[in-house]
Amino acid sequence: MSLSPALLEWMQPRLNQVEQALNLWIDAAAPAQLGQAMRYAVLDGGKRLRPLLVMATAQALGDATSDDAVMRAACALELIHAYSLVHDDMPCMDNDVLRRGKPTVHVQFGQAQALLAGDALQSLAFELLTPEEGDAAVQARCCALLARASGYWGMAGGQAIDLAHVGQRMTLENLQQMHRLKTGALLLCGVQMGAACAGFSQGPVWHALERFGQTLGLAFQVVDDVLDVTSDSMTLGKTAGKDAQAEKPTYVSALGLDKAQAWADELAVQAHQALTDTGLPEEPLITLRELTRWVVQRKH
Ligand code: IPE
Ligand code: IPE
Ligand code: MG
Ligand code: MG
Ligand code: MG
Repeated sequence: MSLSPALLEWMQPRLNQVEQALNLWIDAAAPAQLGQAMRYAVLDGGKRLRPLLVMATAQALGDATSDDAVMRAACALELIHAYSLVHDDMPCMDNDVLRRGKPTVHVQFGQAQALLAGDALQSLAFELLTPEEGDAAVQARCCALLARASGYWGMAGGQAIDLAHVGQRMTLENLQQMHRLKTGALLLCGVQMGAACAGFSQGPVWHALERFGQTLGLAFQVVDDVLDVTSDSMTLGKTAGKDAQAEKPTYVSALGLDKAQAWADELAVQAHQALTDTGLPEEPLITLRELTRWVVQRKH
């Protein structure tokens, strides 16, 4: 899609803020070109969906504890995501040479530097979440959420399932579990950290938002599977057709293209329902609804 004018207007200043913050926080002077590799991995590219989700969720819930906490959570999540991409592209994983329209980090800087850039981005994420000033309870909560979402019951666990099933058929249940972990967990975490910054940690609104984040996260990877087949490398900024070539189990290989697309659409309906179930007034939910439409209708 074509982003709606309202979403574009909401996004633009926030994308600029995220870019400036990331630019400030990743030190170009880090030793032995490590800072250069980290900056190359993070800056100037990517849709920044995860930071936008943090900000849109905090905003939907009213005043966040602090704008600084929201920006730090938004950027920390993008750092974890960027690190996951650097490692995902390495020869021992998906072996990709193109990412965000540029040569992958290991192609540009070598494998050891790519490994270290990923490691250091992960550490930096948690450093960002814990400045000396700020609400210690919110910081601790965001750290716990991000750690869980990145680890063995989150992104890393999902990536392990992905690599363990190359060339194999998976049941729909197992495929769903893999997608929820490898991709869904970080998107859910964006919603959770946004809510945590606004002072939420339990209750019906929290639980409905969790269902929203889970469903949106799954939809996001279903669409990623679809785009791998329907789009081209120029549009995606990464190599199209990789999943079939690498014999990855995906929603397209399991269901076929039409049913996979229909499943993404159905998940979007469920995500919208979860937003309705928060019981919040419609107006503050508009941006989360727009982001949901973008996730399923996007072309890259
Ligand atoms: C790609 O994520 C990797 C997946 C988890 C599917 P994005 O499509 O959000 O990648 P960028 O951040 O826009 O490059
Ligand atoms: C990526 O899944 C999930 C990550 C944790 C990075 P993919 O391997 O399908 O992501 P792309 O298609 O390379 O972006
Ligand atoms: Mg992968
Ligand atoms: Mg990949
Ligand atoms: Mg993919």
